Amino acid sequence: MNVRRRATRTVTPEAARLPARVWAIGGGKGGIGKSFIAANVAATAARSGRQVLLIDADLGGANLHTCFGMPAGRGPNLSDFIEDRIQDLDKAAEETPIPGLRLIRGALGHAGTADTSHEQRTQLVQASRGLGADLVIFDLAAGMDRATLDFFLETDESMLVATPEPTSIENAYSFLRASFYRKLAHGLRDSPVRDLVREAMDQRNERGIRTPTDLIAEIERLEPAAAENLRKLISSFRPRLVVNQVRNREEVKLGFSIRSVCRKYFGLDVEYLGYVSYDDLVWRSIKERRPLVVAYPQSDSAIYIRQIVKKMLQP
Ligand SMILES: Nc1ncnc2c1ncn2[C@@H]1O[C@H](COP(=O)(O)OP(=O)(O)O)[C@@H](O)[C@H]1O
Ligand SMILES: [Mg+2]
Repeated sequence: MNVRRRATRTVTPEAARLPARVWAIGGGKGGIGKSFIAANVAATAARSGRQVLLIDADLGGANLHTCFGMPAGRGPNLSDFIEDRIQDLDKAAEETPIPGLRLIRGALGHAGTADTSHEQRTQLVQASRGLGADLVIFDLAAGMDRATLDFFLETDESMLVATPEPTSIENAYSFLRASFYRKLAHGLRDSPVRDLVREAMDQRNERGIRTPTDLIAEIERLEPAAAENLRKLISSFRPRLVVNQVRNREEVKLGFSIRSVCRKYFGLDVEYLGYVSYDDLVWRSIKERRPLVVAYPQSDSAIYIRQIVKKMLQP
């Protein structure tokens, strides 16, 4: 992917006047419903009259096309753009059966976005703003490689999905921790405290920095001038949380506890956007290859998804 060439080709003057908002949906763990939520959030936004572009950034296990009943493997996809087989990202955008919603597919079994550079990823997000959509949504891969973290950090809004299982909660915290440190490492790369941030990323560091809160305290002590910059960086990172596959009232509350843990240990403000209940209609809609909000618009889960989108779209 030729970054410089791409940037001038895809960002048209018209698009530069009306850049799309870009959201990312991630969560560290696989199989927790990131793609299900991405497909349904995108369909909901499109049905409310917005032009939406959904990007399947899970290049290793891309399957969003199936959620919309689109056959596999035809036409250009995101890998073709990244690997320079097509010049314009626009060429990879395909109409879905839902009016107002286009999809850029990933390619099943491809090496993935992990091979891209930070600059390429930033440019991809920038290029996606210029394709005539009001809203762009990146559906992220599982895991926490640098590419996935960058998409989570470089977009305007990021949504973290977790389920009430201990393994998912654990991954959600690791994902947040990794994103947090990546954000700091990038934002403070020209600062005198950058080595300290790098040191802190090693959980067993000798300074005894175990949590981001410890790191902030240490920076304030050693380099008060850098602390101001640090506070700005932290307040600009406001991930939003969705708890998926909720089965009872106790599990609804999980979002609030994650929120308070994040405040305590990361000094981070995580907004609990809402939850989606565990619902057999979800897998039924996937089997039918139609988004839940289209196939079963009156189901509880569809109603919760619409509420989440409403909150996301609030200015
Ligand atoms: N709210 C839910 N209720 C019931 N099943 C769900 C729900 N969310 C997700 N699933 C199930 O989990 C599976 C994996 O979801 P998917 O969106 O592909 O996960 P991810 O993108 O995080 O890997 C889906 O195929 C679906 O059967
Ligand atoms: Mg997925």
